[in-house]
Amino acid sequence: MSLHDEVNKRKTFAIISHPDAGKTTLTERLLLFGNQIRSAGTVKGKKTGKFAASDWMEIEKQRGISVTSSVMNFPYNDYQVNILDTPGHDDFSEDTYRTLTAVDSVVMIIDATKGIEAQTKKLFRVCRMRGIPIFTFINKLDREGREPLELLEEIEEVLDIETYPMNWPVGMGKRFLGIFDRDGKQFIQHNGNEEETYIPYEDLNKPEHQDLVSQATYQETKDELSLVEEAGDTFSLDAVMSGEQTPVFFGSALAPFGVQTFFDTFISMAPTPGPRKSTEGVIDPENPDFSGFIFKIQANMNPAHRDRVAFLRVCSGKFERGMNVKLARTGKPVKLSQTQQFVASSRDTIEEAYAGDIIGVYDPNAYRIGDTLMEGKTHFEYKELPQFPPELFKSVTASNVMKSKQFKKGIEQLVQEGAIQLFKRHDNEANILGAVGELQYDVFKYRMKNEYNVEVMLESIGERIPRWLKEEQVDASLFDERNQLVRDREGNYVVLFRNEFALNWFKDKHPKTELIDLFEAN
Ligand code: G4P
Repeated sequence: MSLHDEVNKRKTFAIISHPDAGKTTLTERLLLFGNQIRSAGTVKGKKTGKFAASDWMEIEKQRGISVTSSVMNFPYNDYQVNILDTPGHDDFSEDTYRTLTAVDSVVMIIDATKGIEAQTKKLFRVCRMRGIPIFTFINKLDREGREPLELLEEIEEVLDIETYPMNWPVGMGKRFLGIFDRDGKQFIQHNGNEEETYIPYEDLNKPEHQDLVSQATYQETKDELSLVEEAGDTFSLDAVMSGEQTPVFFGSALAPFGVQTFFDTFISMAPTPGPRKSTEGVIDPENPDFSGFIFKIQANMNPAHRDRVAFLRVCSGKFERGMNVKLARTGKPVKLSQTQQFVASSRDTIEEAYAGDIIGVYDPNAYRIGDTLMEGKTHFEYKELPQFPPELFKSVTASNVMKSKQFKKGIEQLVQEGAIQLFKRHDNEANILGAVGELQYDVFKYRMKNEYNVEVMLESIGERIPRWLKEEQVDASLFDERNQLVRDREGNYVVLFRNEFALNWFKDKHPKTELIDLFEAN
């Protein structure tokens, strides 16, 4: 198969959602379609509630490096599907955000009984900032949930994105009859027992369907659909591709219902790998020279196996096992021998990969997040990964002052690796760490002890809203313990606002001071 054909059959995406919306259930359905598992309920164990950090470490130890479910890939119809996991719950971290830099599209799951929830909103912001096409699956239609129109309105208002319902549900919960598939011009009837009947629109007035169409729920919904058709947005593939419009599918991952139609439509519409920006202009995925960038580094938590795996997104050319490439940052050659591809249940050695694929490369402590690996005579680096604004802040000190040298070295390396962010207080240079999720602190503490032999003391500052300032606009006298002034790794000034109220109050009082939100600035 030609490079062109290989690239154009790849569909690389992530599923984003708030915990409990149904990500695991939907993922399992998709893996079933791909014949990756034989029955639902086998991908991940049932949730056991909150993991204590120690349990998590224990799990990591047992599993070695827990990357097995980070990337799932399988052939489906004529496509090669790559699903990247976006860890949530207590695993939520900057890595979750970074994963979104490696995908070409995103499926956003919304629980119909709850609407938009906090974590979905956070992940959505990253997609927005990157202009990633977003496909929405409104889940749990088998339960009494919110009205479809109300849910669409909420998406439009809260997320500020146009919606286009690809299908329209008839009833919900016990009254759930099925969906109008607007794209396929058919009614998909829900028969329970995992069965669906497909009735073309023109056949709906046939006598055998009178039981269905005479129901009040059906009639009401049909009117509602006419309204949507008249007053709703028109479908625009361009708007979808630029992340301005989201196609919306209703269904139930558990029933299951509407999942197959959703997946078929999504997979055919989702973008294939596109060109990526680099220091030498855009690099085409069909460029014959292999290149890619590292978006995540996973350190092994088992002290007996200090190896690390770097996750690389292939962006051009063909990867072959054992090939020689160079690390763009240093110009040094590296041999990619111990590479892995990730399948739901095992880690297989990978022989070849193309743009859109994710491979795991053994990291002899040489890589950094954002590094470009490439072959060929040209030299370029992919655009740096964005810095994501942290939300949880803690001050950090070494328990034993005699260990300050190792302390400094450890922090420096872990920060450089992207495990956590470091800030310094403007007034006394004290170290403040910033993270997206609590897990990053657990990992930080554990690795400082195990890799640098330093016990650290962390003292929570709490949740803060960081806003970057322009140097010429900094007036230190405006800030205090409540809204602290700090500097980031590059020396840029940042205010850690105590809460939304404090931020708005400041904006009112000092309208001329520009407050930069990294989500909007990147
Ligand atoms: P997550 O990965 O997004 O956290 O969600 P997950 O798939 O684990 O689903 C969370 C809960 O919601 C599970 O129930 C799951 O069975 C249920 N669920 C998922 N999709 C649907 C759906 O379409 N309809 C209904 N009614 N429920 C759905 P649980 O009781 O927390 O766990 P379990 O013991 O049933 O696995």
